[in-house]
Amino acid sequence: MYRDVKLAPAADKAKPAAIAITLFANTKTLPHAYAALDKAHAGILSAALERPDFSAGPNSILTLFSHAEKGVRIYILGLGEETKFDSQRLREAGAQVLTACLAARITSLSILTAAALGDRSSGAEAGRALGEGLGMANFQYEDQKGAAAARPDKSKAKPIDLTVRFEASLRAGAEAGLTIARATNITRHLIATPPNIANPAYIVSQARKLAAGAGLGFSVIDYKQAKKLGMGGLCAVGQAGSTPPAMICLQHKPAKARNKAPILLVGKAVTFDTGGYSLKINNGMLGMKYDKSGGMAVLGAMLAIARLKLPVNVVALIPTVENMIDQGSYRPDDIITMHNGVTVEVTNTDAEGRLILADALSYGCEKYKPAAVIDLATLTGGVVVALGSVCAGIFCTDSNLRSAMMDAAEQSGERIWHLPLWQEYRDMMKATHADILNSAPVREAHPIQGAAFLSYFLTDGATQMPTIPWAHVDIAGVAEAKGGSPHYRKGPTG
Ligand code: BES
Ligand code: ZN
Ligand code: ZN
Repeated sequence: MYRDVKLAPAADKAKPAAIAITLFANTKTLPHAYAALDKAHAGILSAALERPDFSAGPNSILTLFSHAEKGVRIYILGLGEETKFDSQRLREAGAQVLTACLAARITSLSILTAAALGDRSSGAEAGRALGEGLGMANFQYEDQKGAAAARPDKSKAKPIDLTVRFEASLRAGAEAGLTIARATNITRHLIATPPNIANPAYIVSQARKLAAGAGLGFSVIDYKQAKKLGMGGLCAVGQAGSTPPAMICLQHKPAKARNKAPILLVGKAVTFDTGGYSLKINNGMLGMKYDKSGGMAVLGAMLAIARLKLPVNVVALIPTVENMIDQGSYRPDDIITMHNGVTVEVTNTDAEGRLILADALSYGCEKYKPAAVIDLATLTGGVVVALGSVCAGIFCTDSNLRSAMMDAAEQSGERIWHLPLWQEYRDMMKATHADILNSAPVREAHPIQGAAFLSYFLTDGATQMPTIPWAHVDIAGVAEAKGGSPHYRKGPTG
């Protein structure tokens, strides 16, 4: 891994050790903008294009060694067919070239792409996608590698940085992309950290440090305060954890947006989900350190928002618990009074995420009067059954917020798919001895049951479908990558 991947200073005139260009598939003649480069390297590019086996297919990378300049490499990054182009191709190209540079321990790279892209992409969009791809590929969780790991001794290997030069039109976008990727990698690192280290207390202490470094407002509601505030869900789920439950509060409040109602982000951070007394079966518990993905993604988003100095007022709430078993844990049949006074009969202690999110949503709506609310959670196995690992499920009854979310998904290459939330689903959650159940007695529509449950805890949601713009994103299927794409290696996607 590089210690950092960063932008070269604008005035940097030093010759890079590697140069990368992008091309669409089936390019027959070299774009004019690459002519000077081709000439400087004795026609090496045009010679490559003339070969019958040259393709520039999606995700391809071809390494050429310059004869004209000893030691210089030229990478040709394939973008696939021009008519099928989207920014994801550039993310992958960025990831491919990072991986190639790292293997060769290259420390300076220049990327040329604007001419090949033409009007298929703006400089801002292309720069951001390349920056994200480069940064995202520079991730590996190595903290726990031990005596059997095949890698050089950490204390002897000098860390190296990669400095990347972009065309002027891409610079600002690339800077943003690298910033976003750095934040995402912090998220991935925290998610990969195992539950015997990353318990709720650890998450709180890491969040405190990271918030201070990024200039975010930070406070924490501890177990005692949560009890006082009536956060029955957070307290019940977390009461058998190895450390007590907590609610992390982060705020980004730039002067420009001081008087605007904030956007509220909420993320589920269950550091480990055993299922509780409704114990997970058939080794379904394995991988449940990923159950903090939503909360860690919200933390990463806040770090990026602060570093990018976005002119928006944003509050984040991250409830964190460990869902464990002991004589003090909550059990099926318990009835809990939540922060907004709604009572919940626990029918399944494995439907714990919604209980901690509910208190965060209720507290956040009451305290901050947000203009919009977005929550992220690995909430249900059902969403994985429905949508697989290709996209997340989104529930949003507000059409403006929904289309903003869809646009953001398109731009970021992180797909979401809209699922319904109607009154009938809220009715499914009604209970006999309390107001609602945390899981209905039928196996139907699990992801929607989760969303319907949460809807009871937003402003005016206890008695009707909430009217506040709100999006619930169930990320259970997309939190972990099985490997296969260049910028999402096996492990947490962030
Ligand atoms: N953390 C799980 C959801 C999950 C499952 C995430 C698989 C990633 C992969 C969640 O807390 C859970 O256990 N949900 C239950 C809900 C059910 C009891 C209503 C589920 O999906 O089975
Ligand atoms: Zn669970
Ligand atoms: Zn869970």
